[in-house]
Amino acid sequence: MSVQKKSDVKIITTHQLQNMKERGEKISMLTAYDFSMATILDAAGIDVLLVGDSASNVMAGHETTLPITLDQMIYHAQSVVRGVKRAFVVVDMPFGSYQGNSSEALRSAIRIMKESGAHGIKLEGGAEIKESITRILSAGVPVMGHLGLTPQSIYKFGTYTVRAKEEAEAQKLIEDAQLLQELGCFSIVLEKIPAALAKRVAESLEIPIIGIGAGPHVDGQVLVVHDMLGINKEFKPRFLRRYADLHTIMTDAVQNYVKDVKSRDFPTDKEAY
Ligand code: KIV
Repeated sequence: MSVQKKSDVKIITTHQLQNMKERGEKISMLTAYDFSMATILDAAGIDVLLVGDSASNVMAGHETTLPITLDQMIYHAQSVVRGVKRAFVVVDMPFGSYQGNSSEALRSAIRIMKESGAHGIKLEGGAEIKESITRILSAGVPVMGHLGLTPQSIYKFGTYTVRAKEEAEAQKLIEDAQLLQELGCFSIVLEKIPAALAKRVAESLEIPIIGIGAGPHVDGQVLVVHDMLGINKEFKPRFLRRYADLHTIMTDAVQNYVKDVKSRDFPTDKEAY
C-alpha cells in the first residue's frame, strides 16, 4: 500500500525500500534539516531524507551531536516534512531521548511522529537498546538502526576513526545487525566500517543496509548534504565525494553583493519601485 500526499505523488514506503534491495536498485539517502533544502532534494529524486542529529554540527555549530534536543529535532523534522512530496523522511532520535528507558523512548518516538509528520525514526546502538526498539516498533513506528561509528557515543570511543576493524567488535556488529532485523527494524545505517564487513552484513541480512563510509557493497548510500555540496570545507574524510563547491560559489556571490552595495551599483532604478 502506498500513502497519498500532496496531490498524486506517492510517498516512498518501507515496503518499496525493501523491494529496491530485492531487485538490486541502490537506495539514495541524504540529510536535510530545513524546508528549502528538502524541497530541492525531494524534487531531484532522493529516496530517503534523514533529519540527522548532525544538525547539531552543521546547523547549530556544536562540536558533537550530543547537545541537540528533542524539541529542536522536531522543529527541523517539521520543516523537512513540509518540503517533501515523495521521499521517505527518517528522523534521528537525539542523545538522551531513548537510551536506558524504554518508556521515555516510546514517548520521544511518538512525539517525533505526531508533531512532525515524519515517516520513521533512527536510533544508534544494538543489544543495549533492544527494549526501546521493541517498544517503539510495537507502536507501529518504522525504526532504522545505526551501527558502526555511532557519533552519540563519541566520548566512549574517543575518536571518529573507522570502527569494527578488530574481530571482536566486528562480531558484535554482525550480531547486533541480526538482532535489529529480528526485532523488526526496516533498515540499518552502517557508518565508517571496513567495506568487507559491510558487504558481509548486507549479504546476510534481508533488510536494506545503507552505508556511510562503508564501501560500495551495501544497498544504499547516505551523506551529510552540507558535506557533499561542499558547503562545509574543512571536513574531508576519505569516504566523502564532493558533488559541488558551494562554499566558493556562495562566497563569490556574497562578495559580489557586498561590492555592489558599497559601490551603489545595487539596486538600480530597474530594481526599484
Ligand atoms: O546524523 C546524521 O547525519 C547521520 C548520518 C551520518 C547517517 O546519522
